Order: sequence, then C-alpha cells, then structure tokens
Amino acid sequence: MKIAVLGTGMVGRAIAGKLANQGHQVTMGTRDPNATKSRSEPDQMGNPPFPVWGKENPEVKLAKFNEAVLGADMVVNATNGAGSLDALHAAGNLDGKVILDVSNPLDFSKGMPPQLFVSNSESLAERIQNTFPAAKVVKSLNTTNAYLMVDPKQLANGEHTVFVSGNDAAAKGKVSELLRGFGWTDVIDLGDITTARGPEMWLPLWLRIWGSTQSPMFNLKIVRAAK
Ligand SMILES: NC(=O)c1ccc[n+]([C@@H]2O[C@H](COP(=O)([O-])OP(=O)(O)OC[C@H]3O[C@@H](n4cnc5c(N)ncnc54)[C@H](OP(=O)(O)O)[C@@H]3O)[C@@H](O)[C@H]2O)c1
Repeated sequence: MKIAVLGTGMVGRAIAGKLANQGHQVTMGTRDPNATKSRSEPDQMGNPPFPVWGKENPEVKLAKFNEAVLGADMVVNATNGAGSLDALHAAGNLDGKVILDVSNPLDFSKGMPPQLFVSNSESLAERIQNTFPAAKVVKSLNTTNAYLMVDPKQLANGEHTVFVSGNDAAAKGKVSELLRGFGWTDVIDLGDITTARGPEMWLPLWLRIWGSTQSPMFNLKIVRAAK
C-alpha cells in the first residue's frame, strides 16, 4: 500500500519504519521538510534528531503534509494532538481516505502530568471525523507506547489488547488487518467513532502507571470469562 504517515516524532518513526519494513511505500509528512532534515538536537524525550533516524530508514520519504497524502491509500495521523487538526488541514483533500488516528488530546500548558483538552462528551477522534466528514477516521493504537504499537510481541507474547473505533466498518477492517500484521492478536472493535472517548481517557491512568512503574512497557489486557 501507499501510506502517508503524518508526524516525525517517535510514533511516526515507529509506524513508518515498520510499514516500510513490511514493503509498503511510505512517505512521512511534516510541516517543513528542510527544517525537519536540519534538526540536530534530540527532542524533549531525548530521541535523536530526525536526520539520524532518516539515515537508518532511507526507504521512507519525507515531504510536506499535502505531498505525503497525495495518492495515499491510507493516512496515519501521528501528529501532536494539539496540532492534529492543523496538520490534517494542511494535508489537503482527505475525502474518502482511511485515517488511522493515533493522536492523544494532551494539554501540557498546566505542567505535568498533562490534562486532556477534550474528554467525556467528545474526543479528538470525533473532532477530526467531524472536521473531515468524508474521511474515514479509525482511532487505534493511542493506548500504548510507540514501541509496543508496532511490536506487541515484546510484551506477554503479544497477548494483550488494542482497540478500534470508527464509523466505517470497511475502514476498521483495513486498520485491523494492519494491526494484525504488526502482531496484534486481540483487536476489540468498540463501535462508532464516539467510542474513541474511552481509549483517549485512558491516558491519565496510563501516565500515572508510567510514573509508578518507571517504564512505558505495559498495556491493557482484557480478560474475558470463558464462554
Ligand atoms: N509517544 C508515544 O509513545 C505515544 C503513544 C500513544 C500516542 N501518542 C500520540 O501520538 C502522537 C505523536 O506523538 P509523538 O510522541 O510521536 O510526537 P509529538 O511530539 O507529539 O508530535 C510530533 C509531530 O506533531 C507535529 N506537530 C506539532 N505541532 C503541530 C502543529 N501545530 N501543526 C502541525 N503539526 C504539528 C510535528 O510536526 P513537524 O514534523 O513539522 O515538527 C511532528 O511531526 C501524539 O498525538 C501523541 O499524543 C504518542
């Protein structure tokens, strides 16, 4: 598939690198490719600047958001939640596109831990779907860290859970297939796009567990009663 991965942070890199390894044609989207290619300082999380990763992943192209999306079969939104609507506006015509939305609505303006800038009666995924009504938004993968997203078998033999939320059954099917290709075995379809509220509101607890365990390598596993 031809896939546009919008976002050059650790999530965009993890997903773009994995998809390219799997043989997909991947272009990452960024605001200003020259600026991104000129970065020389690690990001706030201590990740190496983009050019270091770019050298190790030469098959992944880098382009402006709108150029990355041109002709793409699927678009991954791996941009900062506060900038996601701007990034998607900059991407141009998204009509008919499946958008795998990995973003979280984190607001760092009041310090740590971040708060959610949308919750309870709305989610960022719904804002994206409502802003781009002809796109097919599927929320997924936002409940786990970037490394586990593309390699869930690093933990508990991959026996843990990921969710999909979205209005379009075929789009959720495409995303679920992609997730299974990453190694996910327990993909729970929560329902329409309003069900993205729950996975987004897991973030405050995720952040506290990270703080307590001092590791991002954990996830939700939904244990069911035997039928
Ligand atoms: N880190 C994780 O493990 C993790 C786990 C689950 C979900 N998430 C979510 O995944 C998303 C990506 O996270 P991340 O840690 O990889 O990176 P991030 O630092 O949250 O986002 C980086 C990307 O956002 C873009 N961006 C920032 N502000 C923008 C604006 N105003 N307009 C347009 N684009 C803007 C940047 O564009 P440029 O390339 O132009 O700089 C960059 O590509 C976030 O929504 C995050 O909450 C992260």
